[in-house]
Amino acid sequence: MKITHAKSLRGELTVPGDKSISHRAVMFGSISEGMTEITNFLNGADCLSTISCFQKMGIDITQKDTNVTIHGKGLHGLTRPDSVLDCGNSGTTTRLISGILAGQSFETQLTGDASIRKRPMKRIITPLSLMGADIKSMQENECAPLIIRPASLHGIHYDSPVASAQVKSSILLAGLYAKGPTSVTEPHLSRNHTEIMLHYFGAEVTSEGTTSSLMPDVFLKGQKVHVPGDISSAAYFLAAGLLVPGSEILIRNVGINKTRDGILRVLKEMGGNITLLNEQYDQGEPTADLLVKSSPLHGTIIGGELIPTLIDEIPVLAIAASLAEGTTIIRDAAELKVKESNRIDVMVENLSAMGAAVQATEDGMIIEGKPSLKGAKINSCNDHRIAMSFAVAGLIAEGDVDIAGAECVNISYPDFYRDLYSLCQKQLI
Ligand code: S3P
Repeated sequence: MKITHAKSLRGELTVPGDKSISHRAVMFGSISEGMTEITNFLNGADCLSTISCFQKMGIDITQKDTNVTIHGKGLHGLTRPDSVLDCGNSGTTTRLISGILAGQSFETQLTGDASIRKRPMKRIITPLSLMGADIKSMQENECAPLIIRPASLHGIHYDSPVASAQVKSSILLAGLYAKGPTSVTEPHLSRNHTEIMLHYFGAEVTSEGTTSSLMPDVFLKGQKVHVPGDISSAAYFLAAGLLVPGSEILIRNVGINKTRDGILRVLKEMGGNITLLNEQYDQGEPTADLLVKSSPLHGTIIGGELIPTLIDEIPVLAIAASLAEGTTIIRDAAELKVKESNRIDVMVENLSAMGAAVQATEDGMIIEGKPSLKGAKINSCNDHRIAMSFAVAGLIAEGDVDIAGAECVNISYPDFYRDLYSLCQKQLI
């Protein structure tokens, strides 16, 4: 995929449904009684992996574009799959489903692609084992493939060493099958879609500060779920709209949950002209239309409790920082090393190829902004967020940006290049 310099970006778009919320709607619908109807579902490879896992466990799920219907069979209605469950590239599928599988009366094996088989699973194996689960890494390397055997679970209080919604959610989902209450305290609050949606499906979930608690053995009932637009997908258009001179973009119906809106806070702090319009609240999740106008940006410091609220947006923030005036420091973000790729190394390598002044640190990056970037060959390392971030960089670069493995955007945003192109005034992709 070749991206060339853009004159300006103008127009309106809606981004696809939120990935985290789409996964959860399928999972919770499958373990609820009766029908769940999902609209604006993210029809991307990650969420399709989740659908396929539950279909293999006997759940009737039909999908037509962004509409999904699930005939849930309740907490104890899943049946033994006749083959290994394939989670593809999806960490959310792997970690959340493990919590559900830990409470089943049958054995399952879970695997995924080469990236998933390198990502750390000890972070769920440890707390699930403390709950009594029988879950093991089959190669004894603390990664997938995982084998999960029947066991009886008891609730625990877990002080998580990492602010991770995947870890928190895995434990809370196992808690549905446990004797006694389960609670998780995180160092900083991670995204809370599990708590909001489980409550909506009828679970007893409470949250106080960075602690979420859940009572077991509740009756979950199927629901209608409308998925808001994904702020992590909107992030590319926010950055592009700010960076490409003369741009004005309206992004409609984007989820702006406080545990996800760090990108808005940071870009505004950097001088970005972003206005929230038409704010609404639906099924516990707030949404807004985002109006972005090109603006000169300055450097900033990103760290601490902000990190979990924008963890997936750091690659595109690094692009913005490379073109901002002054220095940007990204810290407390060592989690970037264990995403779909090592996003610190991959960003530093590719940004350096474009002539940016960027340096890797133990837990982030230091970026000296420059007035321009030059074209380069980019290795996406099959990481969707890397490919989309450098597509944004290509709109501003002097010279072409050539992205290898560009099709990996299918994971979270299959029509990304088409949508980007639709806003471009005069350039070819
Ligand atoms: C997600 C949580 C985050 C995020 C991922 C989706 C979720 O991961 O990076 O893309 O849906 O719960 P961690 O929980 O590992 O931080």
